[in-house]
Amino acid sequence: MNEQALIATARAMVADDKGLLAMDESNGTCNKRFAALGIPQTVDQRRSYRELIITTPDLGKYISGLILYDETIRQQKKDGTPFIKVILNAGIIPGIKVDIGSKDLAGHPGEKVTEGLDGLRDRIKEYALMGVRFAKWRGVICTDDSLPSRGCIAANAQALARYAALCQEAGLVPIVEPELLMDGDHTIHQCSDVTEETLRAVFKELYLQNVMLEGIILKPNMILPGLTFKVQESVDDVADATIKCLLRNVPAAVPGIAFLSGGQAAELASSRLNAMNLRFKSRLPCGVAFSFARAIQQPALEIWKGDEANVLEAQRALLHRAMCNAAARRGEYNADLESCVQSNS
Ligand code: 13P
Repeated sequence: MNEQALIATARAMVADDKGLLAMDESNGTCNKRFAALGIPQTVDQRRSYRELIITTPDLGKYISGLILYDETIRQQKKDGTPFIKVILNAGIIPGIKVDIGSKDLAGHPGEKVTEGLDGLRDRIKEYALMGVRFAKWRGVICTDDSLPSRGCIAANAQALARYAALCQEAGLVPIVEPELLMDGDHTIHQCSDVTEETLRAVFKELYLQNVMLEGIILKPNMILPGLTFKVQESVDDVADATIKCLLRNVPAAVPGIAFLSGGQAAELASSRLNAMNLRFKSRLPCGVAFSFARAIQQPALEIWKGDEANVLEAQRALLHRAMCNAAARRGEYNADLESCVQSNS
């Protein structure tokens, strides 16, 4: 393991107010999002959509790294240029999702565990040879009156730590993503308690597996009430609860926190990230950034709708969300920025 190279990559992933763009939806998830908009669910449409994302002019101004999926990393632009070359030429660091999804956890009805450890060392080696510098693994936790179980948290935390150790062995920075889903009617306090317990379990396992904390990026959920809970806290209350939870549970050695968006509306995700940086920046030991998929991609996908004629407009919308989230990292995002979309071309 080259510790200095890992540390340099992790720092570069959260440097200069930039963040990560997750475009690592599995084929199933990508197809589901296409189907909702009437876009044909074919390999070529997925390829065209991913080409739209990676060829967005100036994307590297706001995006430090792109998280790809196995299908995508092997694809090329229409003119034959490999995607990975396009990404490197744009000054963006390529990364890859290496888990193979969450499956039912035996003995724990209603809970999931993420799979993909078998053969992972060889898969990571292949990705590293392709030029990939970081990876992602997502553990999924649900909550309700009786969940999560300790068994579910423990199984996911251990898998995350074993994955992280394998990544660092091969020189890739692991994005460690324990996600408490927003679905349900839990309170913000419940979200905070479960996230806290999960983060403690994850860091305990990372220590046990000798993962070097300076060479990881943590990708947590924000602290939010469940989507269907009757009280939805203000942007500032969410920022306060989120930073309080992270300051208590994330060791200062971690160089970057990059939130998932989890299904939040794009503008709300930007506002909440902005409030965290505006209110707490001077007290944060590490970069507080973004690693959004839907909160960056969704507006662009809705414009594109599978039609070549909409590519430029969709790229403008994608770049706009990237720009807004970079502004949120500086605590400079506001409603006026939302009207600047036309000037980013
Ligand atoms: P969302 O931002 O859409 O939650 O996706 C982030 C991600 O990478 C999920 O693993």
